[in-house]
Amino acid sequence: MNKRLAASLGADPIALLMERHDRRVAQIDPRIAPAPPLAEDQELAVSSRNGSVAAGRIEEYRFGKDTFEALWGALRRHVLQVRVFGPDPAAAFDEVLAGLLSQLGAGPDAQLDTDRSTVLTWPSLDTACAAPLVRHGFAPLTSLVLKRLAQRTDPPGGTTVRPARPDDLERLVGQAERLHLFETQLGVLPRRAALRTLLADELAGALAGEPSFVLTALIDGVPAGFLHGTFPHGAWIEQQVTTEPTGYLSRLFVEPEARRKSVGQALVAAAHAKLRARGAQAVLLHHSLHNPLAAPLWARVGYRPVLTTWTRNYG
Ligand SMILES: CC(C)(COP(=O)(O)OP(=O)(O)OC[C@H]1O[C@@H](n2cnc3c(N)ncnc32)[C@H](O)[C@@H]1OP(=O)(O)O)[C@@H](O)C(=O)NCCC(=O)NCCS
Repeated sequence: MNKRLAASLGADPIALLMERHDRRVAQIDPRIAPAPPLAEDQELAVSSRNGSVAAGRIEEYRFGKDTFEALWGALRRHVLQVRVFGPDPAAAFDEVLAGLLSQLGAGPDAQLDTDRSTVLTWPSLDTACAAPLVRHGFAPLTSLVLKRLAQRTDPPGGTTVRPARPDDLERLVGQAERLHLFETQLGVLPRRAALRTLLADELAGALAGEPSFVLTALIDGVPAGFLHGTFPHGAWIEQQVTTEPTGYLSRLFVEPEARRKSVGQALVAAAHAKLRARGAQAVLLHHSLHNPLAAPLWARVGYRPVLTTWTRNYG
């Protein structure tokens, strides 16, 4: 049992902390699902200030450079899990962040390893905890956004959208690679040598059938873009929110010469119609917060932020 936490919260401190944390988050945003409990297999960083209590721990992940996971972030990732409640959470949250970062900074090879990041995902609407993250050098890079599918959006004209076929694979891989490299240009995703091979494997799997679906858009018969989505199937991302069943969109790309002609909106409207037909109540996706092309589009078609992933890179 964590003595410092028990000193503030009594006999069953973790359960009480989780209950208070989840209640606070549900008041801030009822779309966010309760957080997984804080495991006690390591000494927690704890703060108790001004009637507010926070506690946190570090999860470490290491990925091989040619793995699929390596496409989405650093090879060595420290994921911070923090829980907080109280009238003034920022001070307690700040102290716990400082405690966890000092644990990380103390590591023997902390300075050597450049393909390394520290990541924390936090409710986007919980602005009370934003300043401490900025103060400790985190950047809000990625946003998980949600759209309720009750609101219908009529597809714009002028674009033909059809299911992608196996003979589209080569072109889809090229478009997915350019999308990934655009996110690398934005400083969000790393450059990996195995990118094209991993994308080809993933998209071949997606074209093979459910739970994935892939749509391709054409203007006057000329391929103009694609969208890759997933029907609700109990994936981890669906458990982040209280809406269900929930679909997920993982890729949208429109050829530069075909942009701002509503091709993106036509693909999104077709995906929403497919998900609705499958009984989905909502749809989720991640986008880079500072993507000047995508962020206005997703807001325009009715998505709103739910969870923000704050990242501190060391490269
Ligand atoms: C984002 C992207 C898919 C949009 O496709 P698109 O076919 O141009 O989008 P649409 O024409 O359907 O929608 C346009 C709307 O998107 C937003 N938008 C798209 N391009 C924009 C730009 N260059 N500047 C400002 N807003 C832009 C605006 O809200 C715009 O509405 P408006 O034209 O009335 O101002 C396309 O720009 C693209 O492939 N970008 C690179 C890859 C990428 O960012 N993918 C999404 C990752 S989450």
